[in-house]
Amino acid sequence: MLHIDLITQAPSSAGNAIILPVESWDLAKSLWPELKTLNESDWPTAGQWRLLNAGAGSAWILLNVDWNKASSAGSLKAALKELEAHKFESATFYHTGTALQLRARVWQAADSAYLLEEFLAKKKGFHFKNLHFLIPESTPQMRKECAIGQHIAAAIKTTKTLAEMPANHCTPAYMAEQAQKIAEKSSLISAEILGYEAIKDLGMNSFLSVAQGSAHEPRFIIMKYLPEGKSDNPLVFVGKGITFDTGGHSLKPANSMMGMKFDMSGGATVLGIFEFLAQSKISTPIIGLVPCCENIPGGMANKPDDVITSMSGQTIEVLNTDAEGRLILCDALTYAERFTPRYVVDIATLTGSCMATFGGVASGLMGNSQELIDELKKASERSGDKVWQLPLGEEWHDELKSPIADMANIGSKYSGAITAGCFLEKFSGAYQWAHLDIAGTACSTHGPKRGATGRPVPLLLDFVLHQDKG
Ligand code: BES
Ligand code: MN
Ligand code: ZN
Repeated sequence: MLHIDLITQAPSSAGNAIILPVESWDLAKSLWPELKTLNESDWPTAGQWRLLNAGAGSAWILLNVDWNKASSAGSLKAALKELEAHKFESATFYHTGTALQLRARVWQAADSAYLLEEFLAKKKGFHFKNLHFLIPESTPQMRKECAIGQHIAAAIKTTKTLAEMPANHCTPAYMAEQAQKIAEKSSLISAEILGYEAIKDLGMNSFLSVAQGSAHEPRFIIMKYLPEGKSDNPLVFVGKGITFDTGGHSLKPANSMMGMKFDMSGGATVLGIFEFLAQSKISTPIIGLVPCCENIPGGMANKPDDVITSMSGQTIEVLNTDAEGRLILCDALTYAERFTPRYVVDIATLTGSCMATFGGVASGLMGNSQELIDELKKASERSGDKVWQLPLGEEWHDELKSPIADMANIGSKYSGAITAGCFLEKFSGAYQWAHLDIAGTACSTHGPKRGATGRPVPLLLDFVLHQDKG
């Protein structure tokens, strides 16, 4: 745990570590006159950071990063790790920017300390203890944003921890338990958990068709944040909760199956949002829906060519059992209608096609409401958590036509991210809806640094906080 607080008195540089974004350079020179001996040629190049004067118990870290880039969090993390390597346990970050910018620096710094150590025999630990944000004046706005930043960090931690938890530990029942634990933290949050029978009674046959292959029973998680009993026109978040995706009978090749524990990252994002709501009070009602199950071959599992009837009454020909995310989401989207939502946003590691298009840089954004999409784009710009809009349209809907059912669950070989969006659009006609395909952005699945990124929690919490104001 990294302890973060605000200070207004500049510490002496002797015996201290001071982190200095280069945009604060001029102001910093009047606080620490010794900086005058340095000049701009000592600055790190753009996008870099540099350690100066290490030794004699003091250190300067100069950061020359573009805070609007997602990579800026990585620079801050690397800088803190470097200080840790020099045996520092605390540092001061000189912040001369706005309160909103402070919010981002705080969650980025707190997120630096994230490690999933549960499975390590020998804990590595993050030994860096304290980060003081030195600000010119401690205003209520600054204190509020510092707190919000810490709550965002808690949300990211919840999302990352769940996403990284392997599928032999993170089962649908485990996800449901985590949802209940979050609900226990706040009197404004409830978690209702539906098992197999209740899901069947609702007619969620599309969801169940995926779930039935697995020995682990499915769970449908319904979380509610209802401030002052308010429940009218909530924001609804729907997260894909596939605890492991083997592809089912349309089995994935071994190399593509690695990392499929992350296929519940959309669901983990929804739980992260509620972790935030357990700590930060807002006045907007929020609903979270997470269908959780495993996609694995079995005697009862979907077979290619099967036809199923979704909760909406529309029938689906399952041509590829690996296109399972849309099959569990469609029933959750139908369930969402009962809340007469203000907006519905679904979050899903849905297609390799989206990952092939945007890599880990941007999440794919689609929907039936340009108004909602524009709100999400603005939240993306404010938070630095990138999205890029893809179109939906009749030509792509045509690809989903089936000779024997109302639709097929896949289109042709290409434009897979868009046809997946079109499939979901057929279930979201009752409200304003957007879809975030986070297959590339939620995690990195290969290489020694593989892990969850916590995205798109920063994007969606910015969106929520902004909706709450307006
Ligand atoms: N969970 C995968 C998508 C995915 C792929 C996420 C790579 C993260 C990294 C999804 O269920 C899937 O298998 N999609 C298929 C759809 C296809 C069969 C139409 C895909 O993208 O290959
Ligand atoms: Mn799949
Ligand atoms: Zn999947």
